Amino acid sequence: MKAIVLAGGAGSRLYPLTQVSSKQLQAVFDKPMIYYPLTVLIASGVREFCLIATPHDLPRYQNLLGDGNQWGVAIQYREQPRPEGIAQAFLIAADFVGSDDVILMLGDNIFSGGDDFPRAVSSFTGGATIFAYHVKDPERYGVVEFDRNGKAISIEEKPQHPKSNYAVPGVYVYDNSVLAIAKAVKPSIRGELEITDINLEYLRLGKLQVRRLSRGFAWLDAGTSTALHEASSYIEAIERRQGVKIGCPEEAALVRGFLGIAQFETLIGRMPACEYSDYLRGVADEWHRLQEDKQ
Ligand code: G1P
Repeated sequence: MKAIVLAGGAGSRLYPLTQVSSKQLQAVFDKPMIYYPLTVLIASGVREFCLIATPHDLPRYQNLLGDGNQWGVAIQYREQPRPEGIAQAFLIAADFVGSDDVILMLGDNIFSGGDDFPRAVSSFTGGATIFAYHVKDPERYGVVEFDRNGKAISIEEKPQHPKSNYAVPGVYVYDNSVLAIAKAVKPSIRGELEITDINLEYLRLGKLQVRRLSRGFAWLDAGTSTALHEASSYIEAIERRQGVKIGCPEEAALVRGFLGIAQFETLIGRMPACEYSDYLRGVADEWHRLQEDKQ
């Protein structure tokens, strides 16, 4: 399974912050927003990434993330010159996807809790798997309607009159036929290639699985200055209470075995003295303690 991370868009709702850096590079508490989706994907076992951003912002992502080798993964980059829709990611990154299955994740989606995504990836056998999450304001999202048996029967993009409270978060798992489906999608009234149209095609083919995320799962929005601040507060509160970090790619790479402990410690050694490197040092100590217990 490969992954595309889409970090395009003008981020106009975060003005003037986006005059300084792109939306998905803004701080969510103690790390850049893009760390959160990348960590979810690494924890799901993904090793090959393609990050898509505007030509203006792409060099900043390359500076931050490099080729991914420091985390035991490979990251390629592609440009999206204009914000022409999420589904365009499959046209831009078709050569990267090749003949593989692919998971698309939006760079501004922040999740905490649960193992729904790793399980969906490891049990994926074909078609498409998307998710549904109960929200108060479904009209801002793709909305999925279920029948009495819990089967998805419709999906609408930002409907004025939503048929349910279940919004579709920005994580989509597809088999390779998504490349052909994306090629056939026509721009919507707002001039974008809609991800909802891809999902509707899988639904029409009877190949769409919609998994409801549990209540204990947090899907945070960071699209406005207020929402960004709230997301930071939420992450800070959970991290302080539990003493574990959310959205820490280095830790996920160690747990997944993408990095050995020696590489992990070398990585920490290159970081300045700060709370983040202190935390990772604690993770390494814990790792050594667990090894001693095993002996
Ligand atoms: C996009 C999708 C929408 C989805 C949302 C999740 O909306 O079009 O279906 O529910 O991402 O974040 P956008 O953020 O582009 O408005």
